[in-house]
Amino acid sequence: MNNQTALITGASSGIGFELARCFARDEYRVMLVARHLDELQEAARLLQQEFWGVEVLLLPFDLSRPETAEQLYAETSRRGLQIDALVNDAGFGETGYFTDTDMQTELNIIQVNATSLVHLTKLYLRDMVRRNEGRILQVGSVASFAPSPCQAVYAATKAFVLSFTEAVQHELKQQKSAVTMTILCPPPTDTNFFHVAHAENTRAASHAASARAVAEEGYDALMDGAARSLPTLGAKVNFFSSLLLPDSMLATLMNTQLHAAEK
Ligand SMILES: NC(=O)c1ccc[n+]([C@@H]2O[C@H](COP(=O)([O-])OP(=O)(O)OC[C@H]3O[C@@H](n4cnc5c(N)ncnc54)[C@H](OP(=O)(O)O)[C@@H]3O)[C@@H](O)[C@H]2O)c1
Repeated sequence: MNNQTALITGASSGIGFELARCFARDEYRVMLVARHLDELQEAARLLQQEFWGVEVLLLPFDLSRPETAEQLYAETSRRGLQIDALVNDAGFGETGYFTDTDMQTELNIIQVNATSLVHLTKLYLRDMVRRNEGRILQVGSVASFAPSPCQAVYAATKAFVLSFTEAVQHELKQQKSAVTMTILCPPPTDTNFFHVAHAENTRAASHAASARAVAEEGYDALMDGAARSLPTLGAKVNFFSSLLLPDSMLATLMNTQLHAAEK
C-alpha cells in the first residue's frame, strides 16, 4: 500500500470501476461509492482478486439525495482518512424530447452530475488546499462541448462540469496551490450508460470506446496534473469542432449521434 486514499464515486461499474482499478494497481486504498451494495461488493471482489492486498472500502450512498455529500464527508472523517484523490464519476443521462421526459429523473440527473459534484469538491478541495496537496478528477463528457438535443439536461450538466472545473483550475493557479483538478471528457463508451439513458440502439452506442482505455487515459492525465483528458480521436474532434463551429451546427451533429444505429 502507498498509504494514499482515493475516493471514487460511481465506482461499481463502467468508467468509475476502471478508474478504481487504476488506483488499486498503484496501491492506493480505494473507497468506492455507488447506490447498490451488491454491485460494490462485486467490484471489490474483482479488485481484490486482481490486486492482492488492496484495501477496498465500500460506501453505499445515493448522490441524488442532497444530504449525501455531507454524509460521505462525515464518514471519511469519522474513519480518520485523508482523501488524496477525489474522483467525481457518478452520473447518468436520459434520452428523449424535454417535453416528454420525466422531471424527477432530470432533477436527479442535475443533483448527481452537477450539485453533488460541486458539493463533494467543496468539502474535499478545502482540505486539499489547506494541505497544499491532492488531486481531483471530474468526469465530464464530449457532451460538455455542445448542446445535445434529446439529452438536453444531461448535456447541460456536463457543460456545467466543464465550466466549473475550468474556473476552479484558474483559481488554484491564482492561489499558487499544488492541488490539481482535471476533467475527463469521455467519448461514447461501452458501459451501462446507454441502457440507463434509454439510448441503447443509437449511433453513439454502436461505436463506443472501451471503458478501460478511457479510464486509463483519464488516470494518466490526473496523475500528470493535466487540465483535461480527451480520450480517443473522436473526443479530440468533438473538442476542436466546438471551438470552430456555431452551437446550432454542433447541436445538429450531437443529435445525429442519438439517431437509430444502422443495422
Ligand atoms: N458511457 C459513456 O458513453 C459516457 C460518455 C461520457 C461521459 N460519461 C460519464 O461517465 C460517468 C460514468 O458513467 P459510465 O458510463 O461508467 O456509466 P455506468 O456504468 O452506468 O456507471 C455509473 C456509476 O454511477 C453510479 N451511480 C449512478 N447513480 C448514482 C447515484 N444516484 N448515487 C451514487 N452513484 C450513482 C452507478 O452505480 P449505482 O447504479 O449502483 O448507483 C455506477 O457505479 C458518468 O458521469 C457519465 O456521464 C459516460
